[in-house]
Amino acid sequence: MIVIDKLKKSFDGGRTYAVDGVSFSVAEDETLVLLGSSGCGKTTTLKMINRLVEPTSGSITVDGRDVTSRNLIELRRSIGYVFQGIGLMPHLSVAQNVEIPLKLRGTPAHERRQRAEELLRQVDLPPEQYADQFPDQISGGQQQRIGVARALATDPKYLLMDEPFGAVDALTRDRLQQELLDLKDRIKKTIIFVTHDIFEALTLADRIAVMHEGRIEQLGTANEILSRPATDFVRDLFGKPARQLKMFNEQTE
Ligand SMILES: Nc1ncnc2c1ncn2[C@@H]1O[C@H](COP(=O)(O)OP(=O)(O)OP(=O)(O)O)[C@@H](O)[C@H]1O
Ligand SMILES: [Mg+2]
Repeated sequence: MIVIDKLKKSFDGGRTYAVDGVSFSVAEDETLVLLGSSGCGKTTTLKMINRLVEPTSGSITVDGRDVTSRNLIELRRSIGYVFQGIGLMPHLSVAQNVEIPLKLRGTPAHERRQRAEELLRQVDLPPEQYADQFPDQISGGQQQRIGVARALATDPKYLLMDEPFGAVDALTRDRLQQELLDLKDRIKKTIIFVTHDIFEALTLADRIAVMHEGRIEQLGTANEILSRPATDFVRDLFGKPARQLKMFNEQTE
């Protein structure tokens, strides 16, 4: 379980806050979506969890222990991170990219390759076809799936996914979302998923945290947020998509 308490981050010595007092917890096997527009502090929040960014104040505990008191390598091993943008190494093959976290852990080459092939199969990229390709030889959506495979390599309990399907068309995105849901059914994971896409949030989330200017405006299930928006900001944000979504008509009318 991940518990975040009154987390703040200022990049300018306290003049402004990118993250301004955020608190939430993520339960075992839950998918929490951080939803918000560009610059609202989503990536900064994720990065503080695995200590790519140090908080200005507040605390983060993972499995009951404060992240600052934990061994950094051990912490990052328990947390798979899918970076915003794709972030594959262009000079490494698809399989080698997936193997990076295993290499860091010291897994022998033969075992790494076997695991990479298994992961590629899981994200629907047959290794016979893709393992030895290079990132620039495959499509954007396939590259994003490799990012997901890489994050899963060490079988982490937690997955932090920062707009992992941001760079693909709507159809491919639908497919990748479905694949993630299927994957979640097969292998239990606790996920924090960042997006600015309301439909993606509604599709994937057990609960949604709506962020705005470094704060959480509302945290709840899709139904709670749609039927009882806590602020005008949340009401406006969901107003239009809710009208478009027939299934939610009853709650909004
Ligand atoms: N390393 C940094 N140094 C200074 N300011 C930063 C740094 N990282 C982020 N910021 C600022 O913090 C704020 C939040 O940025 P963050 O990357 O967390 O936003 P985001 O919600 O992920 O946005 P997007 O949807 O565009 O990715 C922004 O105003 C950004 O300019
Ligand atoms: Mg971001």
